[in-house]
Formats: sequence, C-alpha cells, structure tokens
Amino acid sequence: MIVVLIGYMGAGKSTIGSTLAEVLGYNFIDLDDYIAIKEKNSISNLFKSKGEIYFRRKETQYLKAIIENSDHTVLALGGGTPCYGNNFELLQRFCKVKTIYLKLSISLLTERLFTERHKRPLISHIQSKEDLLEFIGKHIFERVQYYSKAQITLDINHKPKQEVLELLVSKLV
Ligand code: S3P
Repeated sequence: MIVVLIGYMGAGKSTIGSTLAEVLGYNFIDLDDYIAIKEKNSISNLFKSKGEIYFRRKETQYLKAIIENSDHTVLALGGGTPCYGNNFELLQRFCKVKTIYLKLSISLLTERLFTERHKRPLISHIQSKEDLLEFIGKHIFERVQYYSKAQITLDINHKPKQEVLELLVSKLV
C-alpha cells in the first residue's frame, strides 16, 4: 500500500506522515524533499529560478515515478500536487494507493503559516495575517474540489498529533 497524504500547506502532511510511516513500518517520502534532492535545489529556489510551471512539470514527473516504483510507503504530497495536470487521475489508477485528506480550518492554517510563510514561495510575499487568511480562503475554495476526491477525509482541527495518528491507523488497518 502507498498512503498518500493530501492537504493544504501547513496541514502537517510531512510531520504526521513521517511518524505514521514509523508506526506502520513503512518508508516515508516527502515529495517536496524528493524534488529538491533530485533537482539539487530548494523548492523556493526552483520557483525563483525556473518558475512554477517548471516546478509543476517536475512534481508530476517525480510523483509518477514514486507511485509506479514504490510500495509500503507513506507519501506526503505538496499542497498543490493533487490539483495539477493528471496527478489525481494517476493516484486513482493504482489500487495500492490510499488517499487521505488532512483537513484543517482556514484560521488554524493561517496561524500556522504566518510565521513560516517565508519558506513557502506562494505565500512569502503576504504581509499581514488578514491578507494571508483571505489568500488561503480563496486558494482552498479553488482546491477543495481536488482535496475532497480523497478516499478518506480526516478533520484534524484541534486534534493532538497522537490522536490523528491513532485515527489514521484505525482507518488503514
Ligand atoms: C505548494 C505547497 C508546497 C510546495 C510548493 C507549492 C502549493 O508544499 O509543494 O511550495 O502549491 O500548495 P507543502 O504543502 O508541503 O508546503
């Protein structure tokens, strides 16, 4: 099985994903880290030097390679991965893939992302919390049609990490 974690930036896909992999005895892959290693560049620099279209092409290419060649793996996608190209169709084509949407409210995402926004090219230019809240609200409105195609949706608002992990494991076994 490949457990694919989907969700907006700041939803905790990487932190939850790496612990979930440990619990399940699976490998863990963070798609952004994988792209950065393969491209020998950070995601921020890739956006800056080559542009978003280049990044999205690479994202699709590496996603396909991982899905085709892995098993017993937890894969944390980037926030935009399920929303571009045929990425979601690719995930749906494989029986071994289980998609899980980690859903957090816009206000909690804003709280989490405001201090970390400089690391994220799509929101690094935003100056105030109010603007960030507005941006995230609109962005999720566009993306929710993709996120909601996940096989499992987990509302993780105000849930401690341990509870989220237990919930995830109970849905997977
Ligand atoms: C993006 C999310 C980022 C990264 C890139 C674009 C997005 O991943 O892939 O900056 O479009 O939402 P995280 O969700 O891991 O921050």
